[in-house]
Amino acid sequence: MARLIVDNKQIETDDGVTLLQACLDNEIYIPNLCYLKEMDNPPGSCRLCLVEIDGHSQPITSCTVTVKEGMVIRTDTEHVRRLQRTAFELLLSVHRVDCKNCPANRKCELQRIAKFLHFGLKLVRLDQLERETTVVQDHPCLEYVPTRCVLCGKCVFVCQKKNGQAVLSFAKRGLDTVISFFGEEDKATATCEECYACAEVCPVAALLMKEQ
Ligand code: SF4
Ligand code: SF4
Ligand code: FES
Repeated sequence: MARLIVDNKQIETDDGVTLLQACLDNEIYIPNLCYLKEMDNPPGSCRLCLVEIDGHSQPITSCTVTVKEGMVIRTDTEHVRRLQRTAFELLLSVHRVDCKNCPANRKCELQRIAKFLHFGLKLVRLDQLERETTVVQDHPCLEYVPTRCVLCGKCVFVCQKKNGQAVLSFAKRGLDTVISFFGEEDKATATCEECYACAEVCPVAALLMKEQ
């Protein structure tokens, strides 16, 4: 058991958990998009879960830090919020917002985070980045909408975890990065377990069961 001070409140948590998980378990919300409790090595890629920790000169991603007895953390400083809004805007710059026509509407993580950060879903300082627009339809039971994908990697993780090997992977680089079904035709048909864990975990309806 470890005791921490978060935003001037003492919380208790199991040893060995991430700081993000400890806060979420204690009803202290920290925005997060690329983290799942089951991950042994969270990628720390969305940069939304930053917090200030005493003894560190810069904010740190709370999903990549393990709790330690006596840690003192602040989740809601002006500096943290500014960095989170910037990270959030970067995500929005690769995501085409069209909530009215989106299956994730009202259960979407981006909407939740936007509300929490009082930011809205419109780009303020950045331009929308052009991404592949073609919806990938050649998987037997899934479709992939690249303009919605925020590249959080959760789908790849759950596929690997559940089935022992990931049928999905990141493909291409930089702005062209997309999620790819291995082999798309033969191999996907042969290895996809049709468990839909990837579609269920996707925070933005970029991966969908075909019936949807
Ligand atoms: S994923 Fe969320 S923010 Fe994006 S269009 Fe759908 S509902 Fe709107
Ligand atoms: S398809 Fe969904 S779960 Fe997979 S990387 Fe894109 S946003 Fe994340
Ligand atoms: S949730 Fe920590 S960096 Fe994405």
